[in-house]
Amino acid sequence: MLLVEATWKEVESHLADSRAIVMPIGSVEQHGPMGLLGTDAMCAEIIARRAGEIGGFLVGPTLALGMAQSHLAFPGTISLKPSTLMAVVEDVVASLSNSGFQQIIFLNGHGGNVATVTTAFGEIHAQRSLQHDPDNLELALKSWFDLPGIRRLLADMYPSGHGSHATPSEIAITQHAFPHAVKQVALDPQTAPDGRFSDAHDFRKRYPDGRKGADSSLAKPEDGAKLIEAAAQALAAEMTRYGKT
Ligand code: NI
Repeated sequence: MLLVEATWKEVESHLADSRAIVMPIGSVEQHGPMGLLGTDAMCAEIIARRAGEIGGFLVGPTLALGMAQSHLAFPGTISLKPSTLMAVVEDVVASLSNSGFQQIIFLNGHGGNVATVTTAFGEIHAQRSLQHDPDNLELALKSWFDLPGIRRLLADMYPSGHGSHATPSEIAITQHAFPHAVKQVALDPQTAPDGRFSDAHDFRKRYPDGRKGADSSLAKPEDGAKLIEAAAQALAAEMTRYGKT
């Protein structure tokens, strides 16, 4: 069930059975010449919604904006500062906890969110510990590409050219879900350089078309369908540990 398509009465009765919710979280940032700006938010939302259908758990609205400072030199990127994202996560958790949710699982589509969201969890737990809050609150962040079995599937699907940004896997997922938005663009070089970077200026200098280590042209919608199903099944299996779903 989608939270935004439910009434408060439906959520109240759902809470009698399960206190778990999945919150998709992504980013709006450049994804190279072929990838959509919304790729990370789209991937998290698509997989979370499919997993919710399989597992019968509640899926909240997607937090579409994330911490994307390193992509700010490309037009269209919208980034929250780490401090802003931490405040957003803290307020979302406080609201859901106030409703009675005790297991809040963020399904993530953007590696750049991990450090900030994990630190926000630390702040929340620290405050609750200091206040001797007796309610157990479980917080988890799961990136779809780190769900059980997915790295293996990615290695099989893309023996080379997967890279770490504007990857064919994330682009394939959006191609399957949003066929009207598929972009066919020649890539030069075919596989982008990879390595380190510091700030947004440095990122664009080192990776001029926005890709990192990826050959985005390997993306195929049919592979996107396989990835969505595999990640959704893996997330649904993970959710069985959070009480009745
Ligand atoms: Ni991405």
